[in-house]
Amino acid sequence: MNSYHIKSLEAYFSTYRKSVENPEKFWGELAEEHFTWHKKWSQVLEWDFNKPEISWFKDAKLNITENCIDRHLESKGNKTAILFEPNDPKEAAQHISYAQLAEAVNQMSNVLKEQGVQKGDRVCIYLPMIPELAYTVLACARIGAIHSVVFAGFSSTALATRINDCDAKLVVTADGSFRGSKTIDLKGIVDEALDQCPQVHTVLVAERIKSEIAMKDGRDKALAPLLKAASTVCPATIMDAEDPLFILYTSGSTGKPKGMVHTCAGYMVYTAYTFKNIFQYESNDVYWCTADIGWITGHSYIIYGPLANGATTIMFEGVPSYPDYGRFWEIVEKHKVNQFYTAPTAIRALAKEGDQHVEPYDLSSLKVLGTVGEPINEEAWHWYDRIIGKGNSPIVDTWWQTETGGILISPIPYATPTKPTYATLPFIGIQPALMDDNARELEGKQVSGKLCIKFPWPSMARTIWGDHKRYKETYFSAFDNMYFTGDGAIRDAVDYYRITGRVDDVIIVSGHNLGTAPIEDAINEHELVAESAIVGVPHDIKGNALFGYICLKELDTDLDPKSISLSINTLIAEKIGPIAKLDKIVICPGLPKTRSGKIMRRILRKIACGEGKELGDISTLLNPEIVAKIKSIVS
Ligand code: WTA
Repeated sequence: MNSYHIKSLEAYFSTYRKSVENPEKFWGELAEEHFTWHKKWSQVLEWDFNKPEISWFKDAKLNITENCIDRHLESKGNKTAILFEPNDPKEAAQHISYAQLAEAVNQMSNVLKEQGVQKGDRVCIYLPMIPELAYTVLACARIGAIHSVVFAGFSSTALATRINDCDAKLVVTADGSFRGSKTIDLKGIVDEALDQCPQVHTVLVAERIKSEIAMKDGRDKALAPLLKAASTVCPATIMDAEDPLFILYTSGSTGKPKGMVHTCAGYMVYTAYTFKNIFQYESNDVYWCTADIGWITGHSYIIYGPLANGATTIMFEGVPSYPDYGRFWEIVEKHKVNQFYTAPTAIRALAKEGDQHVEPYDLSSLKVLGTVGEPINEEAWHWYDRIIGKGNSPIVDTWWQTETGGILISPIPYATPTKPTYATLPFIGIQPALMDDNARELEGKQVSGKLCIKFPWPSMARTIWGDHKRYKETYFSAFDNMYFTGDGAIRDAVDYYRITGRVDDVIIVSGHNLGTAPIEDAINEHELVAESAIVGVPHDIKGNALFGYICLKELDTDLDPKSISLSINTLIAEKIGPIAKLDKIVICPGLPKTRSGKIMRRILRKIACGEGKELGDISTLLNPEIVAKIKSIVS
């Protein structure tokens, strides 16, 4: 049996059937045939969602970098593994072959070891999208250190919280980063963060923008000379299937980010298998995912999934608007990109700028287009299909999460007929369920409910770092014996799924997950603010924009509301990062609350969306009179 590459709808259905009828047999055979192991498992799957405890490929021994690099060296040593496209189109692209990648990763592994990093230690990576980022991620995996990549757009406070949560003692960063025509002082941000992280003994600094930076004696070390001096040989540390591979933080319903823990074997098998099929990768294809490696999409579908398949994966340092809005398409033409994977926000922003930015470029190499991160609206879907795909490249609308490790619902291109705005069918092995408000599973077609997954899949996060209780409460307590995603979905007449958006306190802005709680916590630290509530309102480009209701400690302050708003946004940028800034701020005399004191965000959301007339019965509120006041301020 070889179900590794699915090429038709019939093959999808028959493979799917096998995968749910006998999951252990299915995943066991797939893992055995397509990956390199030092020792086989004693049991494919052990699970209990009530504890919750999930183990895949128990007792197996492996190293994911041997699967992503070493095993390709003989047949693909000269093939480009990573194609680095710099921010500035005038700077040459770098073709890093599998052989070169092996050398660089081994050198980086040796550098980390020399700095005292051992198996199980956490390494925080705060780097721009440069090759050193991929080398460091893979080097951690090679020596068994647990990487925690923090998106290099997060502020120093957010970085410090993440370094301390997992008690990282070594940080890898760069002097700075290029972002379009600007540069960002990454090292300065790290220095500020480390004032709050006394345990960090070493900072390795890659050189990128060649800026003057302060180096702290004994702590900070330039990376380049260390790499140069390091041996290009470093045997891979043999890992247990369930040893942690990485931590990646995501927002939640409290101010503290959740460090999702992914483990080695299941993550490897699932990301590799989904990559192969959802992008229909063929051996000479050039694949490009525009995400940042600071997010899960970059982990699974720039690094691990593609490299496990011996693919050529593009790493793009820049932004879609620099030097102009044709940049993406120029790169597609230049490198003859075959699979292109991006976010609906980027699609909407580029569509708005007009087709003249697309027209000059030859996009005929494209075979598959992908989207991820948020629901895609009809208009953007059709623009992507027509203007980018010329009607010839199926769009894979891929639904998944940091927690799921890999794509769970998506078409398989050239097999599953696509439908605008629908993520369509569950991937192999995935058993979705829609639940109603009474925790009953909705059977049949044309139903809408909360999206859960009934059965484990190999790449699911195993815990939240240091807080297994929160893992259980967040994902396994809403519904008995099911993983709860936090998303709502509908299932149509042909059993296709359409994700309708979050049903919890997470708001997705430009494809980035933002919890209302961390933003409110940041705002509430403002000296004038008594309390606040954030809601999401629809936005043409960003999907959602943040709308903040702020109550001041003193009602008749003399300060001008504009300057208060400005200082609130500055505070948010400092505490979280510019991505969490509010689009609109309204200062109001109070917030609608339930009798138990809970803020009624539903009402605030309706008012923000201009639906203040449709609030329904508000008489059960503790302070119904506040609603009319807020309405008059907003309108
Ligand atoms: C949303 C990103 C609609 C969803 C991989 C999910 C989507 C959250 C889609 C996870 C999609 C992701 N259609 N919504 N195709 N993909 N989402 O953790 O709300 O950054 O729960 O992972 O993004 O965001 P995260």
